[in-house]
Order: sequence, then C-alpha cells, then structure tokens
Amino acid sequence: MINDNQRTTSLIVRPRRLRLSANIRRMVRETTLTPDDFIYPLFVRDGMDTVKPIASMPGQSQRTVDHLAEAVREVAALGIPAVILFGIPAHKDACGTQNYNPEGVIPRAIRAIKDAAPELVVISDMCCCEYTDHGHCGIINTPESAHYRADLPHGYLLNDATLEILARASVVHARAGADIIAPSGMVDGMVGAIRSALDGEGYTQTAIMSYAAKYASAFYGPFRDAAESPPGFGDRAQYQMQPANAREAYKEIALDVAEGADMLMVKPAMPYLDILRGLRDRYDLPTAAYQVSGEYAMMHAAAQNGWIDLKAAALESLTGIKRAGADMILTYFAKDAARWLLDE
Ligand code: PBG
Repeated sequence: MINDNQRTTSLIVRPRRLRLSANIRRMVRETTLTPDDFIYPLFVRDGMDTVKPIASMPGQSQRTVDHLAEAVREVAALGIPAVILFGIPAHKDACGTQNYNPEGVIPRAIRAIKDAAPELVVISDMCCCEYTDHGHCGIINTPESAHYRADLPHGYLLNDATLEILARASVVHARAGADIIAPSGMVDGMVGAIRSALDGEGYTQTAIMSYAAKYASAFYGPFRDAAESPPGFGDRAQYQMQPANAREAYKEIALDVAEGADMLMVKPAMPYLDILRGLRDRYDLPTAAYQVSGEYAMMHAAAQNGWIDLKAAALESLTGIKRAGADMILTYFAKDAARWLLDE
C-alpha cells in the first residue's frame, strides 16, 4: 500500500499544474482557430430572387445569383478568405453539359462574387453530379450513350469521357474568374486532365485543390438535398473510396501530387482524422479537410434536442480537425465560428 505522503513525493510530474488557471491554459494551448482557417460553402441555384433554406442544414440556404453579393460581403467582413461554390442548374442532362455553359449558374455566380468582393478567393467545386439527370459524377455507360463501351458494365462511370467534361468546365470556370478549381469526383486522372486544360488555355495561375481522398460516406446525406443531386440509381462506391481503407488514400494522394495538385483535401473530416494526420506527416502541400453536411447536421440535431452545446461542440470539432493537420477547413460553421472567435 502506498500512503498519501509517499504518493505525493513520488509524483514529480503533475500535468495538472499547467491547467490551473485560464491564463496558464492559454499559454500552453497548441492549436488556435482563426477565421483564416475557414472556407465557406455556398449553394447557388438558377433563377431569380430566391433564398431557399435547406431543411436538413439549419442556417444554410440555396440562393440565386442576385442574392450572392450580400452573402459574400458578409463572409468577407468576417475575415473568412474563401468560398467554395456548388451550382444547382435549372436543366440537367446525361452528360452534365450545363457545367461548361459560360452563362451557366456557376460562371455567373463567380462574376457576381468578383464584383461584390474582389479579394475573396473563389473556389469552384468541379464535379458533374449536380448537372447530370442521373446524379452521378460523370458520364454513365448506357447503350444510348455516344460514349457506349460494350466491354464495360452498364451503369459504369466512363472515366476518360468524363475527364473531357471536367477539363472543359474547368476552363470555363477559370475564365469566369475562379481562383481555384476543386475536382471532387474521384475520377482517375482528373487533376492531370484539368491542369493540362487550364495550362493549354493560359490559365497557368489557376490553382487546383484536389478532393484527393474522398470517401463514399453516409455523412453526405444532407448535401444531396442541398445540391439536389442524389444518385438516381446505385451509389458512388464505384468511384469514391471505401471507408475501410487508409493505404489507398495515400496512393490517391500520391497520384494527385504527381498530376500537379496545389492543395490536397480529405473528406469527410471527423471520421478520417487519421488520414488527415498521415497526409500532413507525409506531404508538404497545404491540406484541407471538409467537415461535411452530415457532420454539421448531426451537431445541429443534437443541439436542438438539448443534448450538446452547439458552439462548444462546433469549436471543439474544428479545433480537432486543425490539430489533426488541416491548414484549411471547409465548413458550414465558417460564419458562426468566425463570429464566435471574434466575440472571445
Ligand atoms: C460532389 C460533392 C459532394 C459533396 C461535395 N461535393 C457529394 C457527394 O459526393 O455525394 C458533399 C459535401 C457535404 O456533404 O457537405 N460534387
């Protein structure tokens, strides 16, 4: 038996000394959030004079281009450096051709944002799922398709045909003024195809933020309402990564680095903090994490039930994501968190 006196003398190291007061805790704090860390996602829909709340994502809305100026001025005033755009076009088709319409919803949105808040960095999410009538992230193999391949299964996402759409749309978004193109479809070779298309048209300064390790996640549920892009059949397991794999993430990341990605992203964030840490330790490129719609919606739902404190939980989650290695966090909490941090 150890008596209290012996215990006292044998305990030389007492970590609690550094937790005694708020100021001591401030001194030893290792990770600090700032609005610089955040990227705010915006959903832009075709049409006029509409701000349509997204039921599954409290506080978030789809808005038409004429309502963007007010939204982005608010983001910029909060000290948030960047937004990422998702488009909801009025017309969808099998190949997602509205994605490369120069008068489509995203090119018009980019120009409106650059008018209203010229310093704000504009990131364009580059995927076909919001633009295809079947909701998949590219061209699907069907006998009716001009790209039909009899040797590949029906329903297969045709990789190389999709690259052409992504490359073409990236140039259109860059021409409209996008600073960064963020391919999110997990299509093989997407970074290389977009880089060479941009360079070929003289957009050598347009950066690429690759959704390098994007998992086929259940946590995207609310987003598919928000972007009105649920897959009409099947799921995305054929192109997004399976949640069980880590080594495969580093293979995907290595390919994107080799193809010329300027920034790398892991998505979702909280269930994949190990991948984020592994990426941070292995590569020197700036690293982003996407705290996705399901992560956001869960915290709101729990807070509405009185089960968690929203502000504390949101800031803890964002701090954890930064501690795990994120230089940037795409989060629907960006504006709230910036306000909470400015208040402190
Ligand atoms: C696809 C895309 C998705 C998200 C961002 N880009 C959805 C998907 O892959 O199904 C999800 C974002 C979120 O859940 O917040 N272009």
